[in-house]
Amino acid sequence: MDQISKSLSADTARTQALGQRHLWTHVSDLGVARRVGMRIVDRGEGCYVFDQNGRRLLDGTAGHFSVQIGYGRDDVIQNAADRSKGLGYQSVWSNATHSEAVEFAARLAQGAPGDLNRVFFTTGGTDAVEAAWKLARQYFAECGKPGKYKTISRHYAYHGASIGALAITALPMMREAFNPVAPGGHHVTNTYRYRTHFPEDTAEDEEAFGKACADEFERVILREGADTVAAAFIEPVQNWCGCLVPPKGYLKRLKKICVEHDVLLVSDEIITAMGRLGTMYSCGRLEELEPDMILLAKGLTSGYSPLGAVVISDRIAEPFLQEGHPFMHGSSGGGHPYCCAVGNAALDVLENEKVFRHVREHEGTMRAMLESFADLEIVGDIRGMGFFQAIELVKNPETAEPFAPDKAKEIAKHFQQRLNAEGFLTGHVFNTDGWHKGKPCITTTLGIAPSLVAGEEEIEHMGQMIRAALEDTKPLT
Ligand SMILES: Cc1ncc(COP(=O)(O)O)c(C=O)c1O
Repeated sequence: MDQISKSLSADTARTQALGQRHLWTHVSDLGVARRVGMRIVDRGEGCYVFDQNGRRLLDGTAGHFSVQIGYGRDDVIQNAADRSKGLGYQSVWSNATHSEAVEFAARLAQGAPGDLNRVFFTTGGTDAVEAAWKLARQYFAECGKPGKYKTISRHYAYHGASIGALAITALPMMREAFNPVAPGGHHVTNTYRYRTHFPEDTAEDEEAFGKACADEFERVILREGADTVAAAFIEPVQNWCGCLVPPKGYLKRLKKICVEHDVLLVSDEIITAMGRLGTMYSCGRLEELEPDMILLAKGLTSGYSPLGAVVISDRIAEPFLQEGHPFMHGSSGGGHPYCCAVGNAALDVLENEKVFRHVREHEGTMRAMLESFADLEIVGDIRGMGFFQAIELVKNPETAEPFAPDKAKEIAKHFQQRLNAEGFLTGHVFNTDGWHKGKPCITTTLGIAPSLVAGEEEIEHMGQMIRAALEDTKPLT
């Protein structure tokens, strides 16, 4: 992190001192915070935020992939406040509810694919993952198959941070301090085609690669016993490793395998729904995707309040419609009236301002910006969909040769610092595991996901900053 606490006003110096003494920020190196200070952001506008020094930073991942409509929409805050006036609190426990939850659930169901007609609200993404796993387990128990409790997810997938969700998450660094996590989580290969362990001829043929990846789910189902596996969790486009797009045929085959073995397919769209790919749900772009449940959070309220949701098919809901069979999960804050009001107000903006269409219309400009770095001879692969794109840095773009492991870490650190120094705010330069010519390697990738309101000007600005950081990083390679 660059030095961020210099020349503070008395007010911000006080906030900085109090923050360092009393606030425990998430997944944070508090030692670094002590040395260089915390970034305090109290104002934003469109794709930009302003730090305590008044410096304008383009948020390269839109507040952890949340702020779809951009920062600083006071009209949305006002609309949500107006909608939730005169109540304050009402839970959604025990058959009680309030109008904002009903309205929002109906709107989410209306846009959802197939028979996904029911919405269970949660407090956020991790809680949605937990709820989906528990729902899958109770569903099978209700159907007389209580032995089906395990999950299968993919290497480097992030599905949340609680001990339960960590069983599904397959990010080594998030899990290592907490093993043993909840039992039952199994992991298979992801769709990292540029760096796969499969033989070259499989990787080159997109459909063969898709089949090989999907078949790994079946291999684990058969190994564990189909009577023990409840659900497969996937991010339609996986974030970690850098926007892994599903190869042709993969999602179709995965669905077939799930149906054959009576395993529920859970689509974790906590990043990829609400316009990130240019449509409300990911299946708008990925036609082969046919989930039994869809998970939402983050962009569900455009990040303006915490809220998550599980959108559930009528088939899965069916056993719970009989008296005496409640789904035994809930929280006091899930479906809070203010959060649902924010969700409704943010969805108004997405619809009225045609934000999904805007993403589809500008995706090409974003892609062209990333392709324009070819002359720097450091970008090996560009991948992604909508406003969810990644570039992979390599030693040799011709051969896809990665950096040596120590070098990869040095380069990632330097590149991230340079991006932040340029004014492109990001924590998303990843070092992950991959393969090159049959040997394991460390990869180096930047994820790019600005607010969905980014237009020509913001995309050009991003391009200038990323280019400057790449130019500065190239000599290290
Ligand atoms: C795909 C995915 N699933 C689940 C989560 C967990 O969401 P939350 O941070 O709201 O708990 C995240 C968060 O980054 C995510 O990216």
